[in-house]
Amino acid sequence: MNVLVTGAAGYIGSHTCRLLVQSGCRVIGYDNLSQGHCAAFERATNGGRLVVGDLADTDLLQRTLTAEAVEAVVHFAALALVGESIEYPQRYHQNNVEGSASLIQALHHCGIKRLVVSSTTAIYGAPEIIPISEETPPAPINPYGQSKWDVECLLQEACQRDGLGFAALRYFNAAGAASDGLLGEDHSPETHLIPIVLQVALGQRDRIQIFGDDYPTPDGTCVRDYVHVNDLADAHLKALNLLQPGQKIQVNLGSGTGTSVLEIVEHARRVTGHEIPCAVASRRPGDPPCLIADNALARSMLKWKPQHSSLDSILTSAWRWHQRHPQGYPSSE
Ligand SMILES: NC(=O)c1ccc[n+]([C@@H]2O[C@H](COP(=O)([O-])OP(=O)(O)OC[C@H]3O[C@@H](n4cnc5c(N)ncnc54)[C@H](O)[C@@H]3O)[C@@H](O)[C@H]2O)c1
Repeated sequence: MNVLVTGAAGYIGSHTCRLLVQSGCRVIGYDNLSQGHCAAFERATNGGRLVVGDLADTDLLQRTLTAEAVEAVVHFAALALVGESIEYPQRYHQNNVEGSASLIQALHHCGIKRLVVSSTTAIYGAPEIIPISEETPPAPINPYGQSKWDVECLLQEACQRDGLGFAALRYFNAAGAASDGLLGEDHSPETHLIPIVLQVALGQRDRIQIFGDDYPTPDGTCVRDYVHVNDLADAHLKALNLLQPGQKIQVNLGSGTGTSVLEIVEHARRVTGHEIPCAVASRRPGDPPCLIADNALARSMLKWKPQHSSLDSILTSAWRWHQRHPQGYPSSE
């Protein structure tokens, strides 16, 4: 199958490209490289074709889809920093919502009816009932989450109007790295807890800031659901194989297990053998105490089962990546 992957040079995109190639797909990457790394895509696909372009360029998307005889699309490309989205909401609407609208238009023009899309737990906001099932009404509390929910609404419209088949996969916290240390997480700025903890272990930061230790959770720190990036990649492959034109799939992808900030730090101390100093800071506005996925629907519908999402597997693989690539991907590649 010929598959176009937007955001293919990013963190989750590159791991998924690798699995798609391993499963026999021909992958064409599409990324504006605002965040991604050429090296990630090259390593993932052994030098596959990367089109450097923006989602906003509907014409380039159409020409690429036609020239490469694309049959299905996996869409990761987005801006994904909650704090930045609060500061620049319009940027998030433009890039994520209008960018996805441009992609949907290009798919319609080319008659492509299968699209797998990154969505997020941020569409649920701060729900009261945990674990979070897909029945939870969307109630985003920041422009990033809103932009992702707006994209799901566009997809539902295109499904009804044009028979587009889509799978919106609502990830919880992506984490971990390829088991051979070739691919991993390299965001700038880095805002995710696990890479930051490991940067402290590497001596690149002095300490980890824990934002609040007085939450109503067992140890007072926030609890999140971490899911290994290779388990996410596997879910994309499964969704792609299942999806039919006109079909609508909206599922959570999480491990179903909650892990607190302190549990991450303590486990990272064991894996790395480093002390990892911590300092408690005040709570960040809008941080819910606990977000854990109910992943029953993904298990039954996609026949998906997280295989690599134990805390140990996540931290061991991430630590291997960070040790081998303390500065991330080489910028020259
Ligand atoms: N990382 C997580 O924990 C997480 C959780 C939930 C959802 N998501 C979603 O998963 C997707 C991938 O996340 P990631 O962590 O791999 O992010 P990432 O920043 O590593 O990858 C995103 C890629 O998209 C590209 N991109 C952004 N805007 C573009 C545009 N307009 N045109 C072309 N390319 C563009 C970037 O250059 C980058 O390579 C995003 O849609 C994100 O919202 C991520």
